[in-house]
Amino acid sequence: MNHVVLVGGSGYVGQAFQEILTKRNISFRNFSRKEINYYNPAKLKAALSAEKPDALINAAGYTGKPNVDACETDKANCLLGNAVLPGILREVCEDLDISWGHVSSGCIYTGNRTDGTGFTEEDEPNFNFRTNNCSFYSGTKALGEEVLEDASKCYVWRLRIPFDERNNPRNYLSKLMNYEWLLDAENSISQRFEYVNACIDSFTKKIPYGIYNVTNPGSTTAREITKTMTDHGLITKELKFFDSEEEFMSRAAKTPRSNCLMSSEKLSDAGIQLSEVGEAIENACRDWVA
Ligand SMILES: NC(=O)c1ccc[n+]([C@@H]2O[C@H](COP(=O)([O-])OP(=O)(O)OC[C@H]3O[C@@H](n4cnc5c(N)ncnc54)[C@H](OP(=O)(O)O)[C@@H]3O)[C@@H](O)[C@H]2O)c1
Repeated sequence: MNHVVLVGGSGYVGQAFQEILTKRNISFRNFSRKEINYYNPAKLKAALSAEKPDALINAAGYTGKPNVDACETDKANCLLGNAVLPGILREVCEDLDISWGHVSSGCIYTGNRTDGTGFTEEDEPNFNFRTNNCSFYSGTKALGEEVLEDASKCYVWRLRIPFDERNNPRNYLSKLMNYEWLLDAENSISQRFEYVNACIDSFTKKIPYGIYNVTNPGSTTAREITKTMTDHGLITKELKFFDSEEEFMSRAAKTPRSNCLMSSEKLSDAGIQLSEVGEAIENACRDWVA
């Protein structure tokens, strides 16, 4: 892979793509809305035809700031970024026969499989507009995957609660450090740079196209993570936990949150291995950059 077009490289996930592509000596061009209106299929097609990339990576989307509650009051933008844009990229990439990958999310699930294990790529989302129990954000992310059903030469990489060793309001570890009250839910999570490397490896290792849960194997809880952070001296205050998800919902949230377990077996069977979740958290705490 010699040259990549990155869509939405200015974002939190996109910046990690820029950094890793640079580190791996893969040339890339970032398409940002300011420069190229990539929502316009004709303009996007002309820009891609001129650029002639070997692959396109879509790291653009609408997340809501400071959190997903904000999506509830900006629905048109959220729908546009998460559900309409993947459809436009699909149309143009298929027209030009370009391989591409889409940054999706594990937030289209809640809980775990009935046998207690993590959801696989075969499991239907259970936190979306069809199941009618979701946040507007999760609903639009699930629609974005529906739009990509049977897309050709397309990877769908599900990211889940990104974290790494760099203090940042978007980093899950920073959030745990800064929130006054915490919800102790069990989740699968993704180390941001391991996630990005795995996405790029999908192309370089030529794994089969399709959906992949790109999470660190295993699951963890806010209590477990904050214990490791406390052991490393990153948290010194006494932590306060909500008694239940109901209490969290009534006191701190406007819309339901997805907490879920995901299986990363399909990705490891394809030959791409992320580190075990406890080890990834330990490393992030050890290497913490304030
Ligand atoms: N951060 C997370 O916790 C998380 C977790 C799971 C999945 N994801 C997914 O990862 C992707 C990137 O998330 P992120 O955290 O990097 O988001 P971000 O920091 O907000 O950046 C997203 C980028 O998308 C572009 N964009 C295109 N259409 C947009 C719109 N309508 N509204 C706002 N921005 C738009 C913007 O780039 P330009 O203006 O430069 O074009 C923006 O910089 C999203 O699809 C998100 O759903 C994120």
